[in-house]
Amino acid sequence: MTELAIEEEINASANDIKIHGPEGFDGMRKAGRLAAECLDMLTEHVEPGVTTEYLDTLVREMVLDNGALSATIGYRGYRHATCISLNHVICHGIPGPKALKNGDIMNIDVTVIVDGWHGDTSRMYYAGEPKVKARRLVETTYEAMMAGINAVKPGATLRDIGKAIQTLGEGQGFSIVRDFCGHGLGQVFHSPPNVVHYAEFKDRWGGIHRAAETPITPGMFFTIEPMINDGKPDVKVMKDGWTAVSRDKSLSAQFEHSIGVTADGFEIFTQSPKGLHCPPYV
Ligand code: MF3
Ligand code: CO
Ligand code: CO
Repeated sequence: MTELAIEEEINASANDIKIHGPEGFDGMRKAGRLAAECLDMLTEHVEPGVTTEYLDTLVREMVLDNGALSATIGYRGYRHATCISLNHVICHGIPGPKALKNGDIMNIDVTVIVDGWHGDTSRMYYAGEPKVKARRLVETTYEAMMAGINAVKPGATLRDIGKAIQTLGEGQGFSIVRDFCGHGLGQVFHSPPNVVHYAEFKDRWGGIHRAAETPITPGMFFTIEPMINDGKPDVKVMKDGWTAVSRDKSLSAQFEHSIGVTADGFEIFTQSPKGLHCPPYV
């Protein structure tokens, strides 16, 4: 996801947003499908005792076996094919040698490049049996992403997406992370517009932040990737420069799809071919 710290850099006026035709949709279908197949493949490998770097290796090899590229290897110095964000890690967790424990929840995020097009998607996974509260957070986050996606149609605005997500997440007593957002994508990994996951919030100095009412039009490609916390929404980035955690160490969940806007709604490019949308997957 895009850091809002670079909001200025990609602050979209509607005419910076690329509008794609049928070749774009074809390209995104292929890229989105491979990214989703990587996440499908992982479902049977996530269990207590397995390391996150092992899961990363499985994805790296699957991407290369399919003649594709990982978009994240080499991206701003990142060196892995996945981000694996455990428990209180919000996003950009770095795969490593630590073994999963029973009850861990994690987001695994994969971005591939197929014939120049980017497929970017993530899902939550459970190692063993998570607590009831963790399951509720994960299920709510999935529903929030889908509510955001279902708000996509020509005539609506990007703010309507954030409104749907915020209403659902906060309605369940959780908080929406504001420091990262969805993004345009296509032949570029991160491009305009920013797709924020709220309609409006007040920061701790009382400043009001309102999502842009950018019109949604056919041929736009972007991600919707809400991060939702069990505690406060505040983020801290660790000294490694990547790992973003909840400041209060509360559990965090995320799902992500890449979508295209059609004449009357949306197409999800990263739908699971096996129907493995939300855990538990077995
Ligand atoms: N896939 C992430 C996103 O949703 C971006 C990861 S960039 C990385 O936009 F370098 F951390 F991998
Ligand atoms: Co993304
Ligand atoms: Co992603």
